[in-house]
Amino acid sequence: MSDDKRLDNALSKGAPSGVSVLGQPVNRVDGRLKVTGRAKYSAEFQLPNMTYAVLLQSTITKGRILEVDISAAEKEPGVIKIITYKNAPKLNETKSGWENGMSLLQDDKVLYNRQNIGVIVAETFEAARDAAPLVVFKYAPEKFDVVMRNEPELLVTPAPQFGRLPDNKRGDIDQGLAQAAVKISETYTTPTENHNPMEPHATTANWNGDRLVVYDSSQGIFGERQKLATIFGMPVENVRVISHFIGGGFGCKGSVWSHVPLCAMAAREVGRPVRLVLSRANNYGPVGFRPATIQNVTIGSDKNGKFTVIRHSGINQSAHVDDFTEPTGSTTNFLYSCANVETTQRLLRLDNGKPTFMRAPGESTGSFALESAVDELAYKLNIDPIELRMKNYAEKDESRNVPYSSKALAECYKQGAERFGWSRRNQAPRSMRDGNVLIGWGMASATYPVHRMQSSARATILENGSALIQAGSQDIGTGTYTVMTQIASNALSLPMKRVQFESGDTKLPATAVSGGSTTVSSTGSAIKLACDDVLDKLTDLCLKDSGSPLYGLLKEKVVCRDGGLCSVEDENKKESFAQILSRSKLKSIEGFAKNDPEEESKNYSMHSFGAHFAEVRIDPELGSIRVSRFVTAIGAGQIINAKTARSQLNGGVIAGIGMVLLEETLMDKEHGRVLNADLGEYHVPVHADIPVIDAFFVNEVDHIINPVGAKGIGEISIVGVAAAVANAVYHATGVRVRDLPITLDKVLT
Ligand code: MOS
Repeated sequence: MSDDKRLDNALSKGAPSGVSVLGQPVNRVDGRLKVTGRAKYSAEFQLPNMTYAVLLQSTITKGRILEVDISAAEKEPGVIKIITYKNAPKLNETKSGWENGMSLLQDDKVLYNRQNIGVIVAETFEAARDAAPLVVFKYAPEKFDVVMRNEPELLVTPAPQFGRLPDNKRGDIDQGLAQAAVKISETYTTPTENHNPMEPHATTANWNGDRLVVYDSSQGIFGERQKLATIFGMPVENVRVISHFIGGGFGCKGSVWSHVPLCAMAAREVGRPVRLVLSRANNYGPVGFRPATIQNVTIGSDKNGKFTVIRHSGINQSAHVDDFTEPTGSTTNFLYSCANVETTQRLLRLDNGKPTFMRAPGESTGSFALESAVDELAYKLNIDPIELRMKNYAEKDESRNVPYSSKALAECYKQGAERFGWSRRNQAPRSMRDGNVLIGWGMASATYPVHRMQSSARATILENGSALIQAGSQDIGTGTYTVMTQIASNALSLPMKRVQFESGDTKLPATAVSGGSTTVSSTGSAIKLACDDVLDKLTDLCLKDSGSPLYGLLKEKVVCRDGGLCSVEDENKKESFAQILSRSKLKSIEGFAKNDPEEESKNYSMHSFGAHFAEVRIDPELGSIRVSRFVTAIGAGQIINAKTARSQLNGGVIAGIGMVLLEETLMDKEHGRVLNADLGEYHVPVHADIPVIDAFFVNEVDHIINPVGAKGIGEISIVGVAAAVANAVYHATGVRVRDLPITLDKVLT
């Protein structure tokens, strides 16, 4: 029997009293559904009378549509309807949220390449796809600007994002510069990147009278419901969004992009359900991307390495359709102790689609610059990079002058260094070889904020004593079904197989977006509180009824154990959930809770922290770079599931290796069009690119952050990976590459 199987069996029998399933490496509860193909993704709901839509996207980058000729396309067999701005129904504009500027076929304007300018609906997907190129758009093109650059007079200051301005300042920068004995000041650049989840965006829309049901691959079904209600001018109760399984999101499915309302619009127009699946190429324009950045980092220190000044000035690619801020200085504000710190962020609006959140937006790009710069300073000072970081360790958050709720960064440096063998490193560049191959060792810090958003959940104990847990949420592929089941199983002292978790439907209690690594802290906390609520009600049923063995006890003398309640003082005084319900003549009993929105962050700085260690092997003649070893140590509070959590860390490291060595969306400057809008040319890491990743969590208990004590792990592990690898590349070669991705030509200078 495999260890997993043995553990599963043990857990399904119910953890013995006092033994928690929290933290256990439990297999995914939805694993069997996924591997047998029974987990239904948004494009797999087969509705009666289904039709299929394909998007028509602009081939110019800016201008107006003069004419639309559908005469050839509409004669094609199977074509039902072609919708463009010429015949599209009026929809309400949305002036709020992340989806400003989405193209809903309301006018003739083209604002970027691959903007959605039409929808073609047919009896089959093939018919729609084949007819699509026959729709002829005649344009009046205009001059456009798609070149990312630092042109000060064109830069704009961003509006607050999540209520915060990205600019931050403490101390006196000039004084800090004057005090510096050693200084580095360099410019780092990162390119546009596209998310490329395995499952492309996909929507199935169906109207029943004035009610709309949408199956969508969405990280935030409740936000989507609200947005659709606004666009179609109807009450939210008339919209239902379902998202049971998602094949990855990484941020691009956190907003409602234009294809979702366009699919619903098409369904209403043809009076039949419509399925719309974006092609891989369709993704490179209207559904967001990580914006390119240009960042200047200046760090000064005294001769011993104590920082006297840090200045981080970032610019990110934005869009004329709507702004997006990638706050590159967000980690710089607090990661190190330093009296004089300034971070700024400016935007350059270009004629491209709107950029969006991509796994650790701001932190992953910003940490490449900051953590490369710290490494550069370490060489200048001839100090070990960890020692330099420890000399400037921030014991509190100096940007806000508040303590950390918990911080295990020193422990991450220590344990990571041990696992990696860092003490055997020779600091001199080009000093470590294996035969002809250059070996480089580099490290970097990781950090990501902890947030909690308002979410709600229902916990129902059924007649047979099992539990039904319901929370809208959605599982973006990270293991949400599993960890929520574990949280409830632990709270109710029931074996996991007696806990059923329902999710991914706006009919269920409202929850927040699965973004910002907050699903466990938000929805998980609500579930924990809903379980507490139902236990409270069950307790009341016992204390007031002389027929209960717990009758007359004080409330605080009753605990939940083994799927029932018992007296703290006398374990023989107990009653199972089923017995309580049957005695009370109830079929079920319901608990409900809404977690409070975050308050703790007023008095505490709440972040997860970590450290990455990379080994690269570089062929000195060819410049080819292999990441041959990787160690990641993360402190993220309570880990709910050791297996899915580790998988998240691996995923972040893999995405980081993609970011540092491979990923880049290439823009044809002459045509304003993405050149590599496919996975053949846009490179993401494959198995051969990825070494064994030794990713682990250091022990950390945080009682402040939220009711489950979990910090969130979706994003932290990508932060700093690019810098760790770039620092290893420098160590191996003596070549400092400040422009991502680090391709072999940049190493062979
Ligand atoms: Mo994430 S970039 O908050 O989905």
